Amino acid sequence: MNPTESAWRDDFALGYAPMDHTHGEFVQCVAAVAQASDAGLMDAFVALKAHLQAHFDQEDSWMRDTDFPARDCHVDEHAEVMKSVHQVEALLKQGDYAVCRRLANELSTWFPGHATYLDSALSHWMCKRQYGGTPVVLRRRQ
Ligand SMILES: [Fe+2]
Ligand SMILES: [Fe+2]
Repeated sequence: MNPTESAWRDDFALGYAPMDHTHGEFVQCVAAVAQASDAGLMDAFVALKAHLQAHFDQEDSWMRDTDFPARDCHVDEHAEVMKSVHQVEALLKQGDYAVCRRLANELSTWFPGHATYLDSALSHWMCKRQYGGTPVVLRRRQ
């Protein structure tokens, strides 16, 4: 994996602080799997899986608890990712390290689109509910 693909980018920031914090963790967990040695891969994968479960559970419960409109496709996309994670886990337990590294690569490719099209709408919704306005995001010049 290209290390730049695993790094935090300012355009990932969506303005709802708890979500941005979680997304920072996501980037770190994916990078840890991508950069792990064979010996460290299982531990990094276990941490990534725990992160993803908590990350998606958190967003799913924000959507359910606040009656977020059109939440189904967002919830479904989280579930699809977890399905892949469980498939990869079974293969990793059989010693397939390559599939695990491929997962990290796929996640880093998947994330920007998911964040832009699905998480950003949720971030706006949560900010509007909590603060009565749209989020303000400060980004360094690209
Ligand atoms: Fe997210
Ligand atoms: Fe999401």
